[in-house]
Amino acid sequence: MARLKTAVLISGRGSNLQALIDACAEASFPAEIVAVISNRPGVGGLGRAAAAGIPAIVVDHRAYASRADFETALDTALHESGAQIICSAGFMRILTADFVERWRDRCLNIHPSLLPAFPGLDTHARALAAGVRFAGCTVHFVRAEVDAGPIIVQAAVPVLPGDDEAALAARVLAEEHRIYPLALKMVAEGRVRVADGQVLIDGAAAPIGALINPAPENTT
Ligand code: GRF
Repeated sequence: MARLKTAVLISGRGSNLQALIDACAEASFPAEIVAVISNRPGVGGLGRAAAAGIPAIVVDHRAYASRADFETALDTALHESGAQIICSAGFMRILTADFVERWRDRCLNIHPSLLPAFPGLDTHARALAAGVRFAGCTVHFVRAEVDAGPIIVQAAVPVLPGDDEAALAARVLAEEHRIYPLALKMVAEGRVRVADGQVLIDGAAAPIGALINPAPENTT
């Protein structure tokens, strides 16, 4: 079985990266990680990549005069790695429309809210301030607008009495670690396609039960 060659973009601790590394460690998983690329040197995720024997590459955005130059370097690193698909996992640089177009429907992102609610930063604080009863996370295809694009998988969690930002973030993060591998698996299996701006899975708008809080046995 040819496994889908995946590059993971990070800027920090890399816990979602770790979830993807762990999933790809299963021989039957249909994707493999060929490179981890960080725009920041010295971050925790680079250590996770190295520990897993995956090339850990730094493309430091501060070394480039413009966003376009940075993205050219990023693109070069991606192509040199042989990556067929990108998973952005806590990658804190906004990608330009040019870059997004080059990787259209081949670039995934995870965001810690039930998009389209609460795109951008401080997601959990804003969710708590809004008094929502449910929070969650979303894996989607990247588009030029920040934290927007066709939704592949979501998971919801309750907001519980007494929750602060950290408690809610931890509850959501556990779901992130479950749904990112699930989304990558479905994409790698060729089951995911975009039509009219929406994701179809197995050719159909997916039944909600298969995508919201998917059962653990469906995640690998
Ligand atoms: C995650 O909450 C992710 O959804 C967001 O940034 C955070 C990254 O965490 N985009 P980690 O680096 O994967 O631990």
